[in-house]
Amino acid sequence: MSIIETERLILRPMTEADGEDVFLWTGDPVVNRYMPYPVHKNVEETRVWLRSLQGKEDEFGFCLKETGRLIGAGSIKYREEFDAFEIGYNLNRDAWGKGYATEAGKALVRWAYEQKNARRFMARHATVNTASGHVLKKCGFLFSHYGQYSRYDGSETFDATYYTLHLD
Ligand SMILES: CC(C)(COP(=O)(O)OP(=O)(O)OC[C@H]1O[C@@H](n2cnc3c(N)ncnc32)[C@H](O)[C@@H]1OP(=O)(O)O)[C@@H](O)C(=O)NCCC(=O)NCCS
Repeated sequence: MSIIETERLILRPMTEADGEDVFLWTGDPVVNRYMPYPVHKNVEETRVWLRSLQGKEDEFGFCLKETGRLIGAGSIKYREEFDAFEIGYNLNRDAWGKGYATEAGKALVRWAYEQKNARRFMARHATVNTASGHVLKKCGFLFSHYGQYSRYDGSETFDATYYTLHLD
């Protein structure tokens, strides 16, 4: 299992024991507004999700080095339909605006480049969710095209901006 260290963060696999901390964002409708997964109604739903991650390598919890506190999570997964690794992230509301998503995003790209031989990356965000676009640009992503994406349960479709990053 991989552990990634950045200046202020430790990126590590999450376990069921993280349920209470993770539910702080998976259960927050503001954080969830543009995420594809349905907002979690209780901590047990979060634990079910955390159990489903066991043995997977592509989803990381972001912990503050200083306190050890888990403040968010992100993933970097190969998507056959794009022939690229897709990056995604979400953070506790009280951790927004401090550069953590950018720091973690850069580290995830580097990890996939080094450990998974990833060279082609993509990402998408609801076009109105401009903060996510800022993060992607600061991670080196470039605008690709406009499109849409839907929540996993089909309940909502968002107008989206797509980005790519191609490394040598
Ligand atoms: C999107 C998200 C991950 C950004 O995390 P973050 O740690 O605050 O991001 P960073 O601090 O690294 O960078 C944010 C950038 O967006 C800007 N930003 C932050 N909040 C913003 C807002 N509400 N509107 C516009 N820009 C905003 C910041 O100024 C910064 O850009 P700058 O350095 O050029 O000024 C966080 O807001 C979040 O978890 N949102 C909910 C989940 C989500 O939408 N995830 C992405 C789905 S595609």
